[in-house]
Amino acid sequence: MSKISKADEELRKILSEKRIKSDADRRVGSEVFDKKTLETLYTLANHGYIHILNGAISTGKEANVFKGLDENGNFVAVKIYRITTSDFKKMQNYIQGDPRFKVRTTNKRQIVNAWVNKEFRNLKRAREHGVRVPRPIVAKNNILVMEFIGDEEGNPASIMKDAYISDPDKLLTTLVNYVKILYNDAKLVHGDLSNYNILIKDDEPVIIDISQGVVLDHPFSLELLNRDILNLTLAFKKLGVHISEDEIKSEIMDS
Ligand SMILES: Nc1ncnc2c1ncn2[C@@H]1O[C@H](COP(=O)(O)OP(=O)(O)OP(=O)(O)O)[C@@H](O)[C@H]1O
Ligand SMILES: [Mg+2]
Repeated sequence: MSKISKADEELRKILSEKRIKSDADRRVGSEVFDKKTLETLYTLANHGYIHILNGAISTGKEANVFKGLDENGNFVAVKIYRITTSDFKKMQNYIQGDPRFKVRTTNKRQIVNAWVNKEFRNLKRAREHGVRVPRPIVAKNNILVMEFIGDEEGNPASIMKDAYISDPDKLLTTLVNYVKILYNDAKLVHGDLSNYNILIKDDEPVIIDISQGVVLDHPFSLELLNRDILNLTLAFKKLGVHISEDEIKSEIMDS
């Protein structure tokens, strides 16, 4: 059994048993998730944020994303960061230059928790300024619950790299406008914008995976912005749209 389906199976089991949990259940070990992660899942389940987890959407370098249902039967996306495989050094470097966080710790769990909290806050900030991102619902420890981007049957939306794009020019215009709003209004740079971190729903882009996003005063912000712009030009080149980095940049900066 693959690691991801193993994780999925374990989580289903845990959550289906959540109402009859006892101290003994709490101590149940997991091959995939540590005890603290299981406890956090219990807490989120008991507060109604997650009623059922019914499918693994993806396993990334540092996080697993699951599809779930909340207590009202709405789909949610549940992103669980694994403590053991996270790149703490990177996380620390990104968090340290961010005035919103005062994490002076080398404790790995605390760094991951701050990282998840950063993703939550970045999503919220982007959304408040009108950029289409998943609505953040709750962040607790290493787990982020957010709006599920997909259809009514629960099929997750495709990433831009795999999606059929009916009007690439229109998509580019929307995305450049989003980067512009992020920069000028939300004062944020995504930092990992690529056709892997953009979902396409009803022909419209939804930007995801914004945990590494930084505020403009962060020492990395300009370098990250340039990389985001480069990645956009590369993604659109594949779709037959030729736009230079300078063109995008002047669009973003001239406001
Ligand atoms: N809100 C969501 N709704 C539907 N699918 C999602 C959602 N968030 C993420 N996904 C799916 O999960 C995949 C991984 O998510 P994401 O890009 O946030 O994490 P990641 O790349 O694994 O993170 P990291 O690289 O930091 O480990 C996405 O490519 C997408 O297919
Ligand atoms: Mg990603």
